[in-house]
Amino acid sequence: MSCPVLRNVFAGLLLALLSKGPSAHGAEFGHLPDNITVLEGESIILRCKIDEEVTHKAWLNRSNILFAGTDKWSLDRRVSLVNSNTSDFSIQIERVEVADEGLYTCSFQASNKPRIAHVFLIVQVPARIVNISQDVSVNEGGNVYLFCLAVGRPEPTVTWKENKYGLMSEGEFLDITEIKRHQAEEFECITNNGVTQPDIRKVKVTVNYPPMITDVKNMPAQLGKTAILRCEAMAVPTASFEWYRDDRRPVENDNTLRIKNEKTRSLLLFTNVTVKHFGNYTCFASNRLGASNASMLLFRPGAVYGRGVAVNVGVSAGIGFWLCLSVSLLMKV
Ligand SMILES: *[C@@H]1O[C@H](CO)[C@@H](O)[C@H](O)[C@H]1NC(C)=O
Ligand SMILES: *[C@@H]1O[C@H](CO)[C@@H](O)[C@H](O)[C@H]1NC(C)=O
Ligand SMILES: *[C@@H]1O[C@H](CO)[C@@H](O)[C@H](O)[C@H]1NC(C)=O
Ligand SMILES: *[C@@H]1O[C@H](CO)[C@@H](O)[C@H](O)[C@H]1NC(C)=O
Ligand SMILES: *[C@@H]1O[C@H](CO)[C@@H](O)[C@H](O)[C@H]1NC(C)=O
Ligand SMILES: *[C@@H]1O[C@H](CO)[C@@H](O)[C@H](O)[C@H]1NC(C)=O
Ligand SMILES: *[C@@H]1O[C@H](CO)[C@@H](O)[C@H](O)[C@H]1NC(C)=O
Repeated sequence: MSCPVLRNVFAGLLLALLSKGPSAHGAEFGHLPDNITVLEGESIILRCKIDEEVTHKAWLNRSNILFAGTDKWSLDRRVSLVNSNTSDFSIQIERVEVADEGLYTCSFQASNKPRIAHVFLIVQVPARIVNISQDVSVNEGGNVYLFCLAVGRPEPTVTWKENKYGLMSEGEFLDITEIKRHQAEEFECITNNGVTQPDIRKVKVTVNYPPMITDVKNMPAQLGKTAILRCEAMAVPTASFEWYRDDRRPVENDNTLRIKNEKTRSLLLFTNVTVKHFGNYTCFASNRLGASNASMLLFRPGAVYGRGVAVNVGVSAGIGFWLCLSVSLLMKV
């Protein structure tokens, strides 16, 4: 390697990358073996520049002759002779494959002495996700196992990332045990090996849970005016709502009362409050994981609702505090 004569010869060897784009660029090198990097699928020209009289010349892939002079020995259609004259001896490899990676040698005889020049061809493959978990839907408390398989040369890194809490996890697998509802979101798998842009794909994790009624209020209403009772419920999948009166009669739409169901809540709209509207309404929210209910009053300010009727306010999960409020409202005469 340190032989000055050899160095001199190698200085005449030029390798040029022929990229598929419009701007082909070349690389020159003076000492060997050198690495030349090419993307899988692209074409490359291996150029041997000779500044001496030569009698014989050949290109080899490892120990196999590709070209001996202008004679093609290789059976590979992707290999061709680009140029052969007294100063330049170049071959091209099209649609480079990973198997092409290795040592290539330009061997020639000058002044009856054998000379060789080497180049090490490195084939790179952009990082790419080849298989990833499908979007998943799981009940709260269940386990989620995500995977993200990637390929590439050099070996890519794989990272799982979630954006809500900014958490990262290295590796192809991400396990979440006893998942909570707040952990529902899109998880991002990122793979990178520095060859091209990272490859990114997302997996959506849905966490199902039964309805939880969050917002109910007893409402005062004036005769002849409008009034609204609201029932808000968090649930996945979204809850369906039903309304009942004191004696479990379902509430139905009529010309003075309309039920308006939205995604996370249901409204009872009274367009013209009359005496018969005052009373106790129970909102019932359900999905396939369960149900929850809450009761609330539409009451006349300054009047004791349901004279002679026992005052008992619906105590559903989480809304027990309405009891005190309702009683105080009712007693405030
Ligand atoms: C060629 O690449 C190999 C590994 O990829 C590295 O060890 C070596 O130093 C490189 N040679 C040159 C001349 O860059
Ligand atoms: C050999 O071919 C190269 C590339 O086509 C050209 O630039 C060079 O002038 C040629 N040399 C001779 C001596 O014909
Ligand atoms: C180089 O040699 C390897 C191993 O024999 C082979 O798989 C590959 O196809 C060859 N490539 C070319 C361009 O000759
Ligand atoms: C992806 O992985 C899943 C689970 O291992 C497997 O069932 C599926 O066939 C794979 N898909 C592909 C395209 O390899
Ligand atoms: C509300 O109902 C009362 C009694 O039925 C009626 O007299 C009144 O006109 C209604 N008001 C409106 C705004 O429809
Ligand atoms: C309202 O109705 C619910 C369900 O029927 C009941 O549990 C609750 O005690 C009632 N509240 C009042 C104040 O009557
Ligand atoms: C309403 O909720 C209470 C407690 O949360 C429950 O005991 C009751 O059975 C529920 N009512 C209905 C009709 O589901």
